[in-house]
Amino acid sequence: MNNSPVGIFDSGIGGISVLNECRSVLPRENFIYLADSENAPYGNRSADEILALARACANTLLSRGVKAIVAACNTATSVAAAALRQTLDVPLIGLEPAIKPAYEHCKDKETLLLCTAATSKQEKFINLVKEYGDMNLSILPQKHLAAYIEKNIGDGNAMRKITEEIFRDKTHVSGIILGCTHYVFLKPFIAEFFGKCGNGGVMIFDGNAGAARRLKAVLTKSDALAERTERGAVEFI
Ligand code: DGL
Repeated sequence: MNNSPVGIFDSGIGGISVLNECRSVLPRENFIYLADSENAPYGNRSADEILALARACANTLLSRGVKAIVAACNTATSVAAAALRQTLDVPLIGLEPAIKPAYEHCKDKETLLLCTAATSKQEKFINLVKEYGDMNLSILPQKHLAAYIEKNIGDGNAMRKITEEIFRDKTHVSGIILGCTHYVFLKPFIAEFFGKCGNGGVMIFDGNAGAARRLKAVLTKSDALAERTERGAVEFI
């Protein structure tokens, strides 16, 4: 048993979609959510910059006594997870584009993967895509989408507009992988745009549920789950 909080970080609000998933899987845990809004977006930065920023986020969370860290950011994970794991003395759970489940459902059907420019250039990402080389997959790096969502999160019309711009000429696709945690906030607008989602409609994939399950497995294995009767709290930095 360990009642210390779990730290979660992202360049901004994207990771809140991961936080929500983690809280539903682990309702008794306390979380500290760090949004590095000052340095957002990460997606157009160099790998060195992203590594330095991710390390600074991890250090801030460690100084708050976290027992595990979730890098709720595909960009930070693809650039920095391996390097961070070498020095951290708490487990680090990362976010990866959900290609595997998409492969299982849409292997021969046209699938789009949206991610940041930085993610699309990383060796980790390129190797992951190669693993599923026989899939009908197109990568669509997005230069400004995370910043746009960060700015327009509460504005349904703006979210609808950008969704239409991205998918206007892609209505024939069967699968969409949201490879950036910010993009998960587009889900309801993508569903609205395509009309039918899931079976018989477009399938939308993200890595959030997988990361939350992994966090639970890691805490369970190391006997570090929180033990409290009330629901856990969240602190935002
Ligand atoms: N939310 C992030 C991701 O999952 C980063 C977006 C950005 O800052 O460009 O990649």
